[in-house]
Amino acid sequence: MKLSPLFIGLAAAALFSFSFAEAAGVAEKHAAKNMPCTVCHQAPTGGQDVEYTKCVQCHNPDQLKAAGEKIKPKFDGLNPHAPHFEDLSCLECHKGHAPQENFCAGCHGK
Ligand code: HEC
Ligand code: HEC
Ligand code: HEC
Ligand code: HEC
Repeated sequence: MKLSPLFIGLAAAALFSFSFAEAAGVAEKHAAKNMPCTVCHQAPTGGQDVEYTKCVQCHNPDQLKAAGEKIKPKFDGLNPHAPHFEDLSCLECHKGHAPQENFCAGCHGK
């Protein structure tokens, strides 16, 4: 069987979403806990106005780092919350309304 590039793309996408069972983005997780849009957005209707510094007002970086140690085995053996970049935005991986991405894979795990 000849594999078309499209098929390979879809298979890769399926693998990717399998490893991150978080298809809908972080907004949905917060809505499920009855948090309004304005926990992230300045405007109640939303938009491109989210600063990641908002995230760390609620999510403690030390706790995130500790949780990352448990995430490590399924994240290519890397702790996603212990990057070697100053001030790496959460939004490089956690998208508001789209599936999570793997920022580290740009260089690691290839
Ligand atoms: C947990 C944080 C979070 C919550 C809660 C949230 N959003 Fe967002 N939203 C984002 C982020 C981050 C973006 C930037 C684009 C992206 O990463 O998906 C965004 C982008 C948007 C955009 C712009 C889309 C675009 O492509 O320009 C709109 C409109 C929006 N959100 C509306 C809402 C509305 C309405 C709610 C409440 C029902 C909401 N959001 C709740 C994080 C959030
Ligand atoms: C107003 C406080 C608040 C803000 C701001 C906030 N969060 Fe959250 N977030 C929470 C709470 C509370 C939960 C639910 C925690 C739980 O279920 O244990 C949560 C859940 C999550 C989860 C899911 C955790 C899981 O167990 O699956 C992720 C990922 C997340 N937040 C990322 C973000 C990101 C990224 C931002 C910034 C765009 C953000 N949060 C902004 C309070 C906040
Ligand atoms: C390099 C990618 C990356 C970055 C940057 C990142 N995360 Fe994560 N985060 C992940 C991955 C991967 C998971 C595990 C998701 C899963 O198991 O589905 C995760 C899980 C979480 C969880 C759930 C933790 C738990 O207890 O299991 C929260 C909350 C969270 N992230 C918040 C944040 C916040 C806030 C920031 C910014 C300070 C951030 N993340 C930055 C990749 C990232
Ligand atoms: C721009 C490319 C690039 C990106 C993106 C990147 N890394 Fe790296 N990383 C490197 C290089 C280069 C090294 C050093 C050479 C080596 O050991 O492979 C390294 C080394 C490491 C190491 C080995 C220990 C150390 O600090 O030297 C860890 C752990 C690591 N990276 C984690 C991560 C995580 C987690 C992410 C995502 C948040 C990430 N990296 C994203 C390029 C990158």
